[in-house]
Amino acid sequence: MRKGILLAGGSGTRLYPITQVVCKQLLPIYDKPMIYYPLCTLMQAGITEVLVICTPTDRPLFESLLGNGHQWGIKIEFAIQAKPEGLAQALIIAEPFLNGSPSALILGDNLFYGHLLQSTLQLANNSTGATVFGYHVANPQSYGVIEFDDNNNAIAITEKPTAPKSSYAMPGLYFFDSNASNYAKQVKPSERGELEIVDVINQYLANKILNVTLLSRGTAWLDTGTPDAMAEATQYIAAIEKRQGLKVSCPEEVAYLSGLIDQKQLVDLATPLLKSGYGEYLLSLINKNFLNEIH
Ligand code: G1P
Repeated sequence: MRKGILLAGGSGTRLYPITQVVCKQLLPIYDKPMIYYPLCTLMQAGITEVLVICTPTDRPLFESLLGNGHQWGIKIEFAIQAKPEGLAQALIIAEPFLNGSPSALILGDNLFYGHLLQSTLQLANNSTGATVFGYHVANPQSYGVIEFDDNNNAIAITEKPTAPKSSYAMPGLYFFDSNASNYAKQVKPSERGELEIVDVINQYLANKILNVTLLSRGTAWLDTGTPDAMAEATQYIAAIEKRQGLKVSCPEEVAYLSGLIDQKQLVDLATPLLKSGYGEYLLSLINKNFLNEIH
């Protein structure tokens, strides 16, 4: 079974002073803590065992918010990244947790939402080698960028290139086979002093076992690393939730609809949340008829 790694480390300096005492992934995106979004993305991929990697200071806060995951029918464990030394380091830290399992690594500040997202994630969960995603953005130079040949095959991935070879950025969600930790150990620190995830992915590319799946323009991928990006993500989630009367990335709902928890457990989760309306929303899910639509 594939296991999830949720990286919620980092110092959040681009959000100072907001993140001077509270880490970014605990801040709200509209009506829920930021970390709920990537956690739900992993759950929607069908993953039920997750390692949250965070700083030593934040660990008690994450433990208090998420517990051991039992309440949502999943298992959550915690590990420490003492310094922000790169995404690839998460694969080394997670090695004992993975214990030979394939993994899906997601960044704690990446939000995904959109049509057919769940089936795309489930396909990636069933893939072999590594699967990464490509997403058209206006500012590829801020991300890992995928270069394609004339037949649309990925030929190189470059971290934050000054002259990007395409407009396709690589979002912070990666599916790896069981060799990822070993590949990560081969990586040397980059100029910014980090073990770069692109250096792991380029090893999969060199071994011809990298799948690149383009996320359609009907999918939203938002990151939330600056005050503007956070405000925009909040506006986006608020607009959709108010219009549809349905929540985006609500772990209780994902757990209930996937059968990880039953009706009684949902009611128990809703009870302490009734004053905010969140609890009422959870109760409204009972007996709701979604007409078998695809989520
Ligand atoms: C990291 C990765 C980059 C990826 C991005 C997605 O960038 O290094 O390849 O495109 O996350 O959010 P960072 O957040 O370290 O700037």
